[in-house]
Amino acid sequence: PARPRTFSGIQPTADSFHLGNYLGAVRHWVALQETHDAFYCVVDQHAITAGHDAASLRQRSRTAAAQLLAVGLDPERCTLFVQSQVPEHAQLAWILSCITGFGEAGRMVQFKDKSQKHGNERSSVGLFTYPILQAADILLYQANAVPVGEDQRQHLELSRDLAQRFNTMFGATFTVPAPHIVKDTAKITDLQDPTAKMSKSSSSPAGIVNLLEDPARSAKKIRSAVTDTGREIVFDTETKPGVSNLLTIYSALAERSIDDLVNAYAGKGYGDLKKDLGEVVREFVTPVQERTRAYLDDPAQLDKLLAAGAEKARAVAGPTLRTAYERVGF
Ligand code: ADP
Ligand code: NA
Repeated sequence: PARPRTFSGIQPTADSFHLGNYLGAVRHWVALQETHDAFYCVVDQHAITAGHDAASLRQRSRTAAAQLLAVGLDPERCTLFVQSQVPEHAQLAWILSCITGFGEAGRMVQFKDKSQKHGNERSSVGLFTYPILQAADILLYQANAVPVGEDQRQHLELSRDLAQRFNTMFGATFTVPAPHIVKDTAKITDLQDPTAKMSKSSSSPAGIVNLLEDPARSAKKIRSAVTDTGREIVFDTETKPGVSNLLTIYSALAERSIDDLVNAYAGKGYGDLKKDLGEVVREFVTPVQERTRAYLDDPAQLDKLLAAGAEKARAVAGPTLRTAYERVGF
């Protein structure tokens, strides 16, 4: 039987992924390429919805791809490409935007959040229609299993609604994508504010551990992480969110269970845990950084690899779009 098809994308909006991106998303991509027919996309068209600089966008797209390869995406096992190199995404997005209600799009909470940040009047129409482009990303590949975090549930719901609506209006064309719930999706919190998620838009850089930063810097941030009252190292996200976050990161990177860690640190203090976690992070990121650098040191080879990925993607996206065009009367 054919493997289930999956699609996921990540924006090249920072110079490095942070641990939240890796542990909450990208790590699962690496696993999914073994069980699924996986399409992974650096979504540079999504990345221009809130303003950008051309040169840094180009560099960030390459850096994003290099990091994805460095953590284990294998172009022999998955299809890795950059969104703007597959014009079908924008083409299908237009059709889908014409079957999306204005009010329906207006109910997307992520737009409300982000547009509030930028100021409603100054937000782009692209930021508003972002979830429609996201639906096109998914539907073009007939993906049936889409990994989603909490923050993306509503967008996947829209993708499902649009697939069903198009199929009803014009005839069966798109697979209706189902959420793929990943077990142990680690939600990583900000080191300086353990009640908020670690995010590139966080107010303090001290709260974020970046994959590509000097591990000595990461270790320092971890040593300064806000921890909780009490001294005992226990896992309890309600009463000890800070320590629990450190344990979550440790557990995922060192591939040791939380219970094992709690036992190992019985009678020890926060300082010991933080010092060791700094070391665990260093051991994890050092080879990732070396591999990332190797890809970035040969941009011609990296671009070639991404062009081959785009070609593989178009071999699926092209026929889907042609069917959709024919169905709508183009
Ligand atoms: P950011 O919040 O830094 O802007 P993105 O929204 O670009 O990150 O997220 C890219 C991917 O990483 C998404 O799949 C998202 O769910 C995941 N992700 C981001 N931050 C975290 C986090 N703190 N914990 C777990 N997953 C996260
Ligand atoms: Na986000």
